[in-house]
Amino acid sequence: MGRAFVYVILGGGVAAGYAALEFTKRGVSHGELCIISEEPVAPYERPALSKGFLLPEDPSRLPSFHTCVGANEERLTPKWYKEQGIELVLGTQVKSADFRRKTLLTAAGETISYKILIIATGARALKLEEFGVKGSDAENVCYLRDMGDANTLVDLMKSFPGGNAVVIGGGYIGMECAASLVINKINVTMVFPEEHCMARLFTPKIASYYEDYYKSKGVRFIKGTVLSSFEIDSDGKVAAVILKDGSRLPSDMVVVGIGIRPNTSLFEGQLTLEKGGIKVNGKMQSSNSSVYAVGDVAAFPVKLFGEIRRLEHVDSARKSARHAVAAIMEPNKMSEFDYLPFFYSRVFALSWQFYGDNAGEVIHFGDFSGSTFGAYWVNKGHLVGSFLEGGTKDEYEAIAKVTRLKPAIENIGELERQGLGFALAI
Ligand code: FDA
Ligand code: NAD
Repeated sequence: MGRAFVYVILGGGVAAGYAALEFTKRGVSHGELCIISEEPVAPYERPALSKGFLLPEDPSRLPSFHTCVGANEERLTPKWYKEQGIELVLGTQVKSADFRRKTLLTAAGETISYKILIIATGARALKLEEFGVKGSDAENVCYLRDMGDANTLVDLMKSFPGGNAVVIGGGYIGMECAASLVINKINVTMVFPEEHCMARLFTPKIASYYEDYYKSKGVRFIKGTVLSSFEIDSDGKVAAVILKDGSRLPSDMVVVGIGIRPNTSLFEGQLTLEKGGIKVNGKMQSSNSSVYAVGDVAAFPVKLFGEIRRLEHVDSARKSARHAVAAIMEPNKMSEFDYLPFFYSRVFALSWQFYGDNAGEVIHFGDFSGSTFGAYWVNKGHLVGSFLEGGTKDEYEAIAKVTRLKPAIENIGELERQGLGFALAI
């Protein structure tokens, strides 16, 4: 027994929500589209989980951040899906996919068939156990990928007012959670293996600005090392984090953000994979022409850099999803996806945006002792990436525009002298 749809979206996160909106804009009929999600709630803006959701006062809660409010679009509540005749199959894990028969098998034993499948399974948080550390299933250790995790984090913060938290990882989750913990009046120690925070993107100079700011808020940094084990008490809770050098950090709670792995296991051997994700073309179509992939799980050609990339950011999830639906619904009209990578974060009173690629020589500009500064990346004679902290809307638009244009840079000194003015003059 099973149900049949024309279009099925596997996964119910950010990309699924934006795909659903695009389907309705392009005239999907009632009963044609189904979304299957392991999560018990309709698609929501995942970035809220490390920001508004964790605030001590007036925290964001659903339905306020269902997609697609993050891009100033309609807010798609469960009622909206019902009105549009879109089937939401929630709290349901897909266990296997049979691309020959065009069917998906759910954990409940239902077979759901499709003509066109969009894979939007996102990613899962890497576990410390995958690095040989045991004990991260203790009740006062949390990861942060979905609403269940975010609820755990909120409960832990409430259980230990004024307590000690150790944050493992100096990437996006580590930085955003550390800020939220501080706002909740928890003492924070961050531990990560690199020499500075946000090592995948920040230069040492940029990182030192944020680290100094965090230090001024009371955050302690232990860099260049990792934890070796947890000290577990008689209740099975983590009492302390033990580092590689033997030092001991007493902890009431631990937050772990050590990266992600795309959810591709159902498709291995059936689809071509690349960069850890599902390889797609400029229409977001995989090696199987009836199967598309979008969001964190998709490795797609970034035309601007002539390379296949897999991005782990919300803007890419939103736009790749919309592009896939457009390509499915109007295949003859659609051109190749031409995406400018865009990342951002907001913590405390700080806010930065980055566009493009952080490759090549770095040119910093602005006032690193003030509140507005940035950097350009120049690779093979062209400006390829731009970062700005504390910009205005116009300034962010200017750095996005200049990065998309990839201008030739003949005089690095002149670019440095002009700084943000270079982008504003374009
Ligand atoms: P997403 O993870 O959103 O959704 C995947 C969905 O698939 C989930 O609902 C999952 O349950 C489901 N699924 C997976 N396997 C399944 C199966 N077998 N059966 C059924 N369902 C299955 N980015 C950014 O640019 N700015 C930001 O500020 C933030 N902030 C941020 C905070 C936090 C806490 C996280 C975890 C992430 C961010 N991000 C971000 C990243 C951003 O949220 C991310 O890039 C998008 O959510 C990716 O959207 P997807 O739809 O691809 O995956
Ligand atoms: P990340 O890749 O940003 O950072 C991982 C960090 O883990 C590294 O910086 C490193 O410090 C640390 N690390 C790696 N191995 C370790 C080990 N063995 N022990 C200790 N530390 C280790 O990943 P994340 O911070 O976990 O974020 C998860 C996902 O969520 C990413 O896809 C990210 O893009 C997304 N996210 C994005 C935003 C944003 O764009 N503003 C915000 C939150 C989350």
